Amino acid sequence: MPRKLTASVPVALVLALAGAGAAFAAPGGVGPPGPNTPSGEAISRLYWIVLGLCAVVFVLVETALILFIVRFRRRRDTPESAEGPQIHGNTRLEVIWTVIPAIILAALAIFTFTQIPAVQAQGVEDEAHLTIRVEAHQFYWEYRYPGGETTVDTLYLPVDEPVELELTGMDVIHSWWVPALTGKMDAIPGRINSLRFVPETTGDFEGKCAELCGVQHAFMPTTVTVLDRDEFESTLASQQEVLALGKATWEGACATCHGLDGQGDVGPPIAGNGTLTNPEALHDLLLTGQNTPQFDYYMPPVGRGWPQKQFDALSAYIKSSKTLSTAPPATTGGGG
Ligand code: CUA
Repeated sequence: MPRKLTASVPVALVLALAGAGAAFAAPGGVGPPGPNTPSGEAISRLYWIVLGLCAVVFVLVETALILFIVRFRRRRDTPESAEGPQIHGNTRLEVIWTVIPAIILAALAIFTFTQIPAVQAQGVEDEAHLTIRVEAHQFYWEYRYPGGETTVDTLYLPVDEPVELELTGMDVIHSWWVPALTGKMDAIPGRINSLRFVPETTGDFEGKCAELCGVQHAFMPTTVTVLDRDEFESTLASQQEVLALGKATWEGACATCHGLDGQGDVGPPIAGNGTLTNPEALHDLLLTGQNTPQFDYYMPPVGRGWPQKQFDALSAYIKSSKTLSTAPPATTGGGG
């Protein structure tokens, strides 16, 4: 028995070491990625301190466990039915192993509460800041800027400027999560949740929808692109050009389910479809969605909340694309 035990310890250690490489190679190592914001720094700090404390407790408990298993194992000359010494209670020991965890938990709670203002970037709301409305849809993200600009799936931000996101859901609950910047926040229909942070590094930061919201939940990514002020303004302006906005809207709102060329995916093929090429019919369908028993597919009302310019931009983009505006040659068989 002991020989088996002594053999399994090095095996476990080798396995742990083998896994450690992969864990540390992940973005941010075993910790959160970033941080690229003061909020992210607070989250990282919290993470490492909690992890460190847990690691100390883990090592102490496991060491005691292994020592006891070895030290108090049954000896070869003891019969299997023999009982160990009968012990009844030890008040001092029980008080100690209740008080120590209580102190550890209290310390963790106090430390966590001291970090909350930093995580939530409290105080940032008092500074001049950029407020951007985030509308989560099945299955894309719509960003609305103070100047009336709109971008889809990519959020553009100026570096070193406090930002406040006002998140809401347009159909079901989603969750906005860009771990390299800050924590996640739910986007809930009928209410507005605020998320504040100050991006301190330029670059692209990838995020995901973190709340199961339907068939394409796994295909609801978002990117935050942090730029210098000048670049931010010019990029945002270029994204408002009709075809750019139309293309972004097509790719985010339509292609996620119908494929980039409208060839069909979880949604039916729509390239060249009469509704797609008729701006009025398309406008109505985008607002109402499709949810009747006669229709095989459920379609979310993806155009809910769009300004007219976005409907127009989408139609203009569809018209500009030969693939989307022309019906594909009829093929035999197949069928969506
Ligand atoms: Cu939206 Cu998951």
